[in-house]
Amino acid sequence: MSNSTSKSIENNYDALELITEEVLKRYGDTPNPRLRELMLSLIKHIHGFAKEVKLTAEEWAFTMSFLEETGKWCSPGRNEFMIFSDALGLSMLTITQDYPRPAHATEPTLVGPFLMEDAPQFPMGANISGGAAGTPMHAQGQVLDIHGKPVANAVIDVWHSDDRGLYDVQDDFEEKGAWARAALTTGADGRYSFWSVLPVDYPVPQDGTAIQMLKATTGRSWRPAHLHFRIQAPGQRPLVTHIFDKNSKNLDGDAVFGVRPSLIADFVHQAPGKAPDGQTMTRDFYTLDYNFVMTDPIK
Ligand SMILES: [Fe+2]
Repeated sequence: MSNSTSKSIENNYDALELITEEVLKRYGDTPNPRLRELMLSLIKHIHGFAKEVKLTAEEWAFTMSFLEETGKWCSPGRNEFMIFSDALGLSMLTITQDYPRPAHATEPTLVGPFLMEDAPQFPMGANISGGAAGTPMHAQGQVLDIHGKPVANAVIDVWHSDDRGLYDVQDDFEEKGAWARAALTTGADGRYSFWSVLPVDYPVPQDGTAIQMLKATTGRSWRPAHLHFRIQAPGQRPLVTHIFDKNSKNLDGDAVFGVRPSLIADFVHQAPGKAPDGQTMTRDFYTLDYNFVMTDPIK
């Protein structure tokens, strides 16, 4: 028996260090260099965390059960783990450090838990609300490249809440299908436009595990009203962002740290009358004008 093994039995502190050392040694054999770097750093930090707070077996068992329950809340249209990433600020941290851009390019922000691939495709100018309740809203603008030229064939995914603060995936999706969700493709002028309903402030989903964490910790669970956008275009780095309503009461307390001043826009209240697309509205509505500037493509 070696001296170090004897020490590990006799001295609790040394035994803890030896566990970490042994784990690091084994994962040091990971063939892929980037995966090796990620795993070794993760192990150092997570072991360090457990030692720093003297994590108990009961607390860790609770955590494992909590994560198991979190998995049960996930579905094709909802990623409960993403809400944890968002609420812990990790989504914004990684997006911010991984999206170098010139100052005039549109700022990215988190994708959130409700993005769906293969959203229904609509022609430009269409009403994408799908019957969602709320005040009519017309949104329009242009997708530009970093030099200010229109970006053609940009696929714009847009998704947002109705006036209850709910998304389609939270509202009997099996029965009703998608609403307030669309994919639009720009023409040569890079312009986009659509009708939908005004999004409102909403809290993090109240029925999952992320809200349990927020209630037990920060108490901050609200998000300011916003539209989600993902823009993918040939030769351009994809942009995922939000446009926030400047009239929202929760701009300073976003539960997921997503607000950036450059992404706050004026959703302008309009009395009945002519809309930007020429149609006559018989009730109040809102208009939004916002241009997106893509950054350089990935080199
Ligand atoms: Fe959202």
